[in-house]
Amino acid sequence: MTTDLRSDTFTLPTPEMLDSMFKAKVGDDVFGEDPTINKLEAISADMFGMEAAIFCPSGTMTNQIAIKCHTQPGEEVICEKLSHVYIYEGGGIALNSGCQVNPIIGDRGRITADQVVENINPIHDYKAITRLVSIENTTNRGGGSCYDFENIVAIKDVCLQHKLSFHMDGARLWNAMVKKNESPKQYGEIFDSISICLSKGLGAPVGSLLLGNKAFIQKARRIRKVFGGGMRQAGYLAAAGIYALENNIARLKEDHEHAHEIGAALKKKSFIGNVLPIETNIVIFDVLAPYTTESFAALLETKQILVMPISSTQVRMVTHFGVTAAQVKQMINFINEI
Ligand SMILES: Cc1ncc(COP(=O)(O)O)c(C=O)c1O
Repeated sequence: MTTDLRSDTFTLPTPEMLDSMFKAKVGDDVFGEDPTINKLEAISADMFGMEAAIFCPSGTMTNQIAIKCHTQPGEEVICEKLSHVYIYEGGGIALNSGCQVNPIIGDRGRITADQVVENINPIHDYKAITRLVSIENTTNRGGGSCYDFENIVAIKDVCLQHKLSFHMDGARLWNAMVKKNESPKQYGEIFDSISICLSKGLGAPVGSLLLGNKAFIQKARRIRKVFGGGMRQAGYLAAAGIYALENNIARLKEDHEHAHEIGAALKKKSFIGNVLPIETNIVIFDVLAPYTTESFAALLETKQILVMPISSTQVRMVTHFGVTAAQVKQMINFINEI
């Protein structure tokens, strides 16, 4: 049996999730007539205490729609240098929104209110207008780190003072909320827009939601259509999302425990260098001689354990419900033997 730790996007729908998909009532969502999508959008907006939501095929699309909604071409977006919106969305901020990015070097993917203040452009003919701050929680490339909520509140204050919009890339916000014992409504009160993914740790095969006020989501609906993201009988996918929201959030705690166990085993090995602090379900570490990231990944693959080299020195492992406690134990036994 393969232990696939490359990403929590490798989860497969469970029989129960598939059953809920088969039973979904569907319609044409471009006409607003898919009852299951309408239900998913209403449930998620309600969870976060926000006015409206729109279902999209991917987290990249929800982020990119949000950025386009908030900005005009020639404006500037502040985000951390390792942000998904900046390094993993194909240059979409430039391509889709005609904006430039002011990337800040933060702490494991997180930025502070002071850093935002320092990076807001003065109003001057030769400067781009700073328009949007986008943060990620948990951070992907920052190793699943979480913001302390007071730092988010402090960034929000800066956004209010400087009339900047504030977007949350919450692909793994569920993991952050479980880890920090926070509620969706706390986030709904702060952000102008929130992107949440159903297809990462929650285990749905497809789908993300963008949340905001009614006018914002109306604008987002138009942009989704222009981006080619208007879907028809996609209620089958939304049903998986509803199932995920109702059943798969609390169990993320297990994934976090598994990540801690794996990290503890790795730290004992002489060929493992720095292991980034483990907060949620992502483990990022340096591989040292005699291994390279590629040869270490290849060694694990001989035992059907799949991991992802993410730079010349770092490897990433992500825990999820497709990796059981028994598989984690087996893998740790193997690491101990190397
Ligand atoms: C932090 C973050 N944001 C956005 C995305 C994009 O999601 P998708 O793969 O659904 O486009 C990912 C994907 O892994 C992610 O890790």
